[in-house]
Amino acid sequence: MTEATTTGPRLLDPALYREVMGHYPTGVTVVTGTSPEGEPVGMVVGTFTAVSLDPPLVAFMPTTTSGTYGLMRDSAAYCINVLAHDQLDLCRLMAVPRPGKFDDVEWTRSPHGAPALHDAVAHIHCRPHDVITAGDHYIVLCEVEAMEVNRPVTPLLFFQGGYGGFSSRGMSAKGDAELIESVRLAEVARPAAERVARDLGCEAAVLVAANDHELTAAATAYGGNVEPLEPLGVRVPLMPPLGEAYVAWADESVVEAWLGRASSQEPGIVDKYRRRLDAVRSRGFAVSRQREEDRPRYTDLKDAMREYAAGALTPARERAVKSVIAASSPFFETIDIEDGETYDLGAIVVPVLGPDDRVALCLRASQLPSGASAATVRGWVSTLRTAADEVSAQLRSSGRDDYSAYLRSMPGDFMM
Ligand SMILES: Cc1cc2nc3c(=O)[nH]c(=O)nc-3n(C[C@H](O)[C@H](O)[C@H](O)COP(=O)(O)O)c2cc1C
Repeated sequence: MTEATTTGPRLLDPALYREVMGHYPTGVTVVTGTSPEGEPVGMVVGTFTAVSLDPPLVAFMPTTTSGTYGLMRDSAAYCINVLAHDQLDLCRLMAVPRPGKFDDVEWTRSPHGAPALHDAVAHIHCRPHDVITAGDHYIVLCEVEAMEVNRPVTPLLFFQGGYGGFSSRGMSAKGDAELIESVRLAEVARPAAERVARDLGCEAAVLVAANDHELTAAATAYGGNVEPLEPLGVRVPLMPPLGEAYVAWADESVVEAWLGRASSQEPGIVDKYRRRLDAVRSRGFAVSRQREEDRPRYTDLKDAMREYAAGALTPARERAVKSVIAASSPFFETIDIEDGETYDLGAIVVPVLGPDDRVALCLRASQLPSGASAATVRGWVSTLRTAADEVSAQLRSSGRDDYSAYLRSMPGDFMM
């Protein structure tokens, strides 16, 4: 380890100061206020920070030479607008020293007095509290009067002189390059999915792993009068209770990783999911229910999955989506298909095994007619199983190259 030599502040090289500080990312805000003529004024500020909770103080640091800050210096109110990842154009517009910046911008004067920019992630309404001169900058301390999250999306970030976005290390979707082999593999199964959709009058999807923590619908087919609901390429997080049919026939390491993503790591809950995998394995398919009384929660799950698929989840939204997924656990409860009963099913999923007897992909039937008898459900399962066996046979013969390419495209520690 090397120890940096300390030099007096006066000797510091400005380029070094900028370079080192550039390694620390900031958010991007637009601080707005009002000119003495009553016109809206605003400037881009990266030096915004929380200061105190009691009293509630925040601060930003304009340069002492900033003409824009000079214009709003006597403002009675400021609004700190936290910019979203998709507001780079607005940022560029607000970072130049010119009048009329608000002409092409959507904003509203807030009840607190300063312009609030539409579509900003958050608005912090404040009034000046104190201004401290600190070298070539001012520290403008402001007292917060009100604040709100306006649009809970990921923020715009500034780092080493460039703009970027936040990506969670948890559930965020990865790039599309790794999808190519998965899509190729799914093509092998497409004719089987089309037959299932036609025979059952349902939606059929070919689910493949997009990476080590997500499945994706890489091919879909529709039978009967079923509406295409699920766009191709939509990602499904591999976390309990989702993806059982896939995980049940995967390697132990995949099973453990899946269990590790359960919302609760209480032994009772983890055991429950482990038992469900056993049940899925012993009967050969996974099934989810969609009873009338479950509908509101099922709608919540669909919305959460849509939000997940849209990407750019903030950590807070990620936690919310995870909790909705966890709350959907009852839909996937192990059930026995018994004579005399009728069933409203959300989906039936069967694995397709590769030449190595590990799961290569899954076939899923959804949008199934409700009120199905036990015999009908058994018929559906058998149609799916036959289709899966056919795809398996193909993967052992003509589709073998596609499967090998697909395995090679997957991360080394994700052996399926
Ligand atoms: C990402 C980013 C962060 C910025 N942060 C600050 C800041 O913290 N303080 C500041 O005085 N100017 C900052 N600026 C520059 C001002 O936005 C810009 O100089 C101002 O809006 C227009 O110039 P003027 O202040 O000379 O009128 C930043 C610019 C960008 C692009």
